[in-house]
Amino acid sequence: MKGLFITFEGADGSGKSTQLRFLAEYLEERGVSVVRTREPGGCLVAEKIRELLLSKDSEMDGVTEALLYAAARAAHVRQVIRPALDAGRVVLCDRFIHSSLAYQGYGRGLGTDLVWQINKPAIDGCMPDVTVFINVPPERAFERMNENKVHDRLESEDLSFHQRVFDGFTQLSKGEGIISIDARGTKFETREIILQKLMPYFVSAGIL
Ligand SMILES: Nc1ncnc2c1ncn2[C@@H]1O[C@H](COP(=O)(O)OP(=O)(O)O)[C@@H](O)[C@H]1O
Ligand SMILES: [Mg+2]
Repeated sequence: MKGLFITFEGADGSGKSTQLRFLAEYLEERGVSVVRTREPGGCLVAEKIRELLLSKDSEMDGVTEALLYAAARAAHVRQVIRPALDAGRVVLCDRFIHSSLAYQGYGRGLGTDLVWQINKPAIDGCMPDVTVFINVPPERAFERMNENKVHDRLESEDLSFHQRVFDGFTQLSKGEGIISIDARGTKFETREIILQKLMPYFVSAGIL
């Protein structure tokens, strides 16, 4: 039995966590076994790497950053994602490889070839069946974030960095296996668009 692996991507504040929760609830109400997880993180060692990555005193170059994300991903794939998929479950993951491509590849300027190379052994063939790109421009997404929120190391980068990341996501969303969702509407409107786009995947996997 093989489950279904779905990842959510987009800017901070775009609504990834909200939409992941909506989809998980929709599936769980229909008796589907769902694993909700996130990157960087999702298992103990990866959550420790997350702390290191997001801490504001962790000054580091782009290659170090990309390798740490990949290291966290390697553990997450082996400890959580692949075992869940092998058990036939639906895995919903907040960020995955496309965030590395967008943030380190485009944002930090490493290029997507190098980021792919670094991530190949981490992912080890465990690619998402489908990726949902929550398409909201960074300035709009930023408005959605709580004014009082304490921004982590990456959120604290300037708007030009976030614009490069967003342009990266936009480029990547022209590729295969990724669906761009116009998420400028309300969270409930966005929820309906996502459900409609994902339904064929659930049906063909025999999940719904
Ligand atoms: N479509 C939407 N319109 C307006 N606000 C939204 C929308 N979707 C989510 N939000 C709100 O924006 C904030 C950021 O959403 P969140 O899901 O945490 O984004 P992310 O996980 O991508 O950072 C939350 O307060 C959320 O309730
Ligand atoms: Mg979130």
